[in-house]
Amino acid sequence: MSAPNKSYDPVEVEALKPEEIERMRDEALAAFAAAGDLDALQEAKVAHTGGASPLALANREIGALPPHAKAAAGKLVGQARGAVNKALAGRQAELEAERDARVLVEEAVDVTLPHDRVPPGARHPLTTMMERVADVFVSMGYEIAEGPEVEAEWFNFDALNFGPDHPARQMQDTFFVQGPKGADGSKGADSDGESGVVLRTHTSPVQARALLDREPPVYVVCPGRVYRTDELDATHTPVFHQIELLAVDEGLTMADLKGTLDHMVQSLFGADMKTRLRPNYFPFTEPSAEMDMLCYVCKGESVGNPDRPCRTCSSEGWIELGGCGMVNPRVLTACGVDPEKYSGFAFGFGIERMLMFRHNVEDMRDMVEGDVRFTRPFGMEI
Ligand code: DAH
Repeated sequence: MSAPNKSYDPVEVEALKPEEIERMRDEALAAFAAAGDLDALQEAKVAHTGGASPLALANREIGALPPHAKAAAGKLVGQARGAVNKALAGRQAELEAERDARVLVEEAVDVTLPHDRVPPGARHPLTTMMERVADVFVSMGYEIAEGPEVEAEWFNFDALNFGPDHPARQMQDTFFVQGPKGADGSKGADSDGESGVVLRTHTSPVQARALLDREPPVYVVCPGRVYRTDELDATHTPVFHQIELLAVDEGLTMADLKGTLDHMVQSLFGADMKTRLRPNYFPFTEPSAEMDMLCYVCKGESVGNPDRPCRTCSSEGWIELGGCGMVNPRVLTACGVDPEKYSGFAFGFGIERMLMFRHNVEDMRDMVEGDVRFTRPFGMEI
């Protein structure tokens, strides 16, 4: 390495002229002041204090100066670099404080906001309605009985005294899962006693199952889903719900049936409610009746009273509920119960219909489509 050049005058080295050093310092200070955030400050730091910055280059020039000139130039550059580093640290602290304050605001948690934004959901009004009805009977001592939805044709029809040619067995009304052996599915048990398999068309087969499972007295209520080959429209759905009641004991009469029906509608719709029976035919009850309940809105006052029309009962005064009757002795016999000793009553009705008139639901499709705008107004009852 060559010796320092004694004749070398630092003032002649462009990069070490005091005004140049000042300019470099001032440019650095201006750049730091102008840096709006920590990233910009990092860029300015590299540009003004990094190895290739003007002040670093100037510092390197000092090495080539003659000894007498080194001290003054070193002091000049050192002071400038000191000022630059100090300004950098100051700006850095300022920008960090700003960032911390901003993060505190941006990431603040409002502890007063509701923490539970996911709605907890609710049970379907058909389920709650079915349970409400079943509860009326459970509180009277009835037991809940359930049966399969995919049911033996024997339970769905034969045990209930539907003859082999009963129209309800037709393919057009019943979903056959499997026809009876060797038949086209339109007849009941064939000569071998082999039963077809259907989607149950009503909850009445649970009557037969309950009687076969228990010794009388039998008091059961059977809620459940049933199927018929109906198109889905405003008043029909191929899948719907029924509730069935069966009481078998010694000495039961139609008066017990009527009293039980009256108690049910009074529990569900109010103390001044009542029912009426109209003769009808069902294979599994004898005698059979259609049961109506008093319109719980107009209480019959809309009948013959054009000034007070009632939408709920179409001013008929009564609302049709379902079917009922005294259990046909042939059903008791088919289920191993002695009809000489025991008698029974039964009834069954649709839950969808009850929901329709109780809550003014006009379109049955609303009940199956699962739109929460339909179910939400029924509330959160569980
Ligand atoms: N199972 C009948 C239906 O679906 C309703 C019914 C009628 C049920 C009379 C009964 C009854 O228990 O006794 O149409």
